[in-house]
Amino acid sequence: MGYQRGSIVAAFGNKRILVTGGAGFIGSHLCEQLLAEGHEVLCVDNFFTGWRQNIHHLTDHANFELLRHDITIPLSVEVDQIYNLACPASPIHYQRDPVQTTKTSVLGAINVLGLANRLHAPVLQASTSEVYGDPAVHPQTESYWGNVNAIGPRACYDEGKRCAETLFFDYHRQYQLAIKVVRIFNTYGPRMHPEDGRVVSNFIMQALKNEPITIYGSGLQTRSFCYVDDLVRGLIGMMKTSPDITGPVNLGNPHEFTMLGLAEMVIRLTGSASQIVHKPLPCDDPRQRKPDISMAAALLNWSPTIELKAGLVRTIDYFENLLHNGLHKPHATKAA
Ligand SMILES: NC(=O)c1ccc[n+]([C@@H]2O[C@H](COP(=O)([O-])OP(=O)(O)OC[C@H]3O[C@@H](n4cnc5c(N)ncnc54)[C@H](O)[C@@H]3O)[C@@H](O)[C@H]2O)c1
Repeated sequence: MGYQRGSIVAAFGNKRILVTGGAGFIGSHLCEQLLAEGHEVLCVDNFFTGWRQNIHHLTDHANFELLRHDITIPLSVEVDQIYNLACPASPIHYQRDPVQTTKTSVLGAINVLGLANRLHAPVLQASTSEVYGDPAVHPQTESYWGNVNAIGPRACYDEGKRCAETLFFDYHRQYQLAIKVVRIFNTYGPRMHPEDGRVVSNFIMQALKNEPITIYGSGLQTRSFCYVDDLVRGLIGMMKTSPDITGPVNLGNPHEFTMLGLAEMVIRLTGSASQIVHKPLPCDDPRQRKPDISMAAALLNWSPTIELKAGLVRTIDYFENLLHNGLHKPHATKAA
């Protein structure tokens, strides 16, 4: 029946925790923090966008284990908690193999939920602000149902994540499974993929190479950016809530910056000679995204603490090192 070894570990307050997508940007920081808190971590990743280098420093840790596996295929392991982060997260990567993206969200959720259900283990879903699509209300509260184009190029991700949320709540209603759904807004920090086409990594890489900084549209559209350490604290805080807390809960930084303001800050912090150039907006690009985080504040006593400037300095350091050491990541490959 129950998982004996896990129970023994749990008796000492520490748990055996599965992190899918653990070799990715956010996943690697989560693995690191869970290990620092004394837990055992099983990192599962198919390296679609993840990178061994992200977890290289953890591989010798006695409590860390890595399993190369695609979560679209069922997985049988014995753990006490599950964080489901596996999914390419940036448009360049999730549109590269859109069918695989939907499969990862939907089949991945079914497999992870089936596992959690067998183990009676709480399971956290890394959902996304993309479930709000191009939102008609600002800021976005969890009660807003969203405005998503079901057939557009972003739908493989947006609708995949929406379906995953449906599955989480149906497992909760049907099997009383303890679920935690968090909707993550733009997050940045070290170990972001340097070629993921997202605004923070794009601007920093362009600035460090003194290349023109590309702004799509006027640059007056706003985004909010949450530093990865703040986000990871929110994920772990959510997992620690009582079983009746399911979410969805928004996690993100409500402080808005225009793209133009961000580009100027990156140019200043890198001392770059880059000029700003404008290109047309991509299809279905949301004009504004800003989380309402009052639920996270009330339930988790959570709010972001790291200012954009401080987070950017650490992220710039990371990208500078990458460029300096010639550690350029390969493009994401098609999953097997
Ligand atoms: N970074 C953000 O701003 C952001 C915003 C909203 C939601 N999220 C969510 O957070 C999670 C982590 O995002 P990230 O930014 O770290 O992205 P990432 O691409 O760096 O990490 C995703 C990881 O999942 C792995 N993966 C992908 N498909 C898989 C599969 N089928 N089986 C096993 N592993 C698989 C990848 O190899 C990678 O290591 C994702 O679920 C994403 O949707 C991220």
